[in-house]
Amino acid sequence: MPFHFAERIAHAPPSFLEELFRVSSDHSIISFAGGLPSSALIDVEGISEAGRQVMEDDGRTALQYSTTDGYLPLREYIAQRYRTRLGVPASADKIQIVNGSQQSLDLFGKIFLNRGDHVGMERPGYLGAIEAFSLYEPVIHTVPIDEQGLVPDAFERLIATHPVKFFYGIPNSQNPSGCTYSEERREQIAGILSGTDTVFYDDDAFGELFFDGKPRLPVKKYLPEQSVISGSFSKIIAPGMRIGWLYAPPEILKTFNIAKQAADLHSNFLCQMVLHRYLTTHDLDAHIRNIVSVYGRRCRLMCDLLDDLLPTLTHTTPEGGMFMMATLPAGISSRAVFDNGIQEKVAVLPGMPFYIDGGGTDTIRLNFSNADEEKIKTGMERLARVINRLIRS
Ligand SMILES: Cc1ncc(COP(=O)(O)O)c(C=O)c1O
Repeated sequence: MPFHFAERIAHAPPSFLEELFRVSSDHSIISFAGGLPSSALIDVEGISEAGRQVMEDDGRTALQYSTTDGYLPLREYIAQRYRTRLGVPASADKIQIVNGSQQSLDLFGKIFLNRGDHVGMERPGYLGAIEAFSLYEPVIHTVPIDEQGLVPDAFERLIATHPVKFFYGIPNSQNPSGCTYSEERREQIAGILSGTDTVFYDDDAFGELFFDGKPRLPVKKYLPEQSVISGSFSKIIAPGMRIGWLYAPPEILKTFNIAKQAADLHSNFLCQMVLHRYLTTHDLDAHIRNIVSVYGRRCRLMCDLLDDLLPTLTHTTPEGGMFMMATLPAGISSRAVFDNGIQEKVAVLPGMPFYIDGGGTDTIRLNFSNADEEKIKTGMERLARVINRLIRS
């Protein structure tokens, strides 16, 4: 029988997931295509011990229904970390726990966007955000980024010419480009938005992962009441726990909370309690230093190998995070690199899904967090063979 799905689902962009799935199920392929943190750096023993303690001390509470806003001690922990790390006046009433920061994207879209409303994001932009917002059928505008972040003139033009409800950006180690906004650009963006009705949505999935260990000031510092920050434990503790948060003015959170309650009542309460126990019984900063030193080495190695083996290709040089982006030599298509790469047993992600208005046919995204240094070396040699063969043909 024909199933009459809602029109909005037809607005979901074509996904590359099927092809990625094929790649991840073949273990002989070295994949730089996905976006996984390193499994080896997840503290399985520490998290199991925290789980055991929570069950023993307060299992009945952990396994009961709870409030939509989230476990108060966890929200207090997050707020305290903002105050000490970034010097912003966070408090638990401004923090809402979500099912991974991906849920913030969906619920934010749900509470702000009517069909045809205007929303802005970076070009290239995070695929998961494109997918989440598209279901609410907005008009999505894009603003290009360079190595310093959003291009101010283009950003100003967009804000001046369209009633943009919110602008979604990733100032720290952007996905997919790996670029980080300079401090000057953050101030410029806040200046442009100040006095308008546009909210700045700062997706801070990677802010703890700077290789130099130094935090960057959020746009919120310059625009406190008009911006929100979404955060996540996925990249620093474990993505499978699905715990993230939204840090926002209480007026936004009140509405957000209604949508969250309708969606799932609350996030997994057992995981919230286990996570809080883990955080308060372990040295999070030392754990993050360890992750960052491994990712920093992998990133440098990947950059060096690209420079040595593929000098005609250009790439971003990330200050942190998990991704970099490369622009292929003239005439080489990212789709051909993907298809030929699979035969050579190396996978990269073609840039197209990150460009909603076309583009990306000459760029690829490379993940450096998941493969170890040996795999990075072998994978880059394979990639160089693929691209050099395409150049010669
Ligand atoms: C920029 C960005 N935002 C959000 C997410 C979603 O992460 P999670 O839902 O695990 O917090 C990701 C995942 O890779 C991401 O790269």
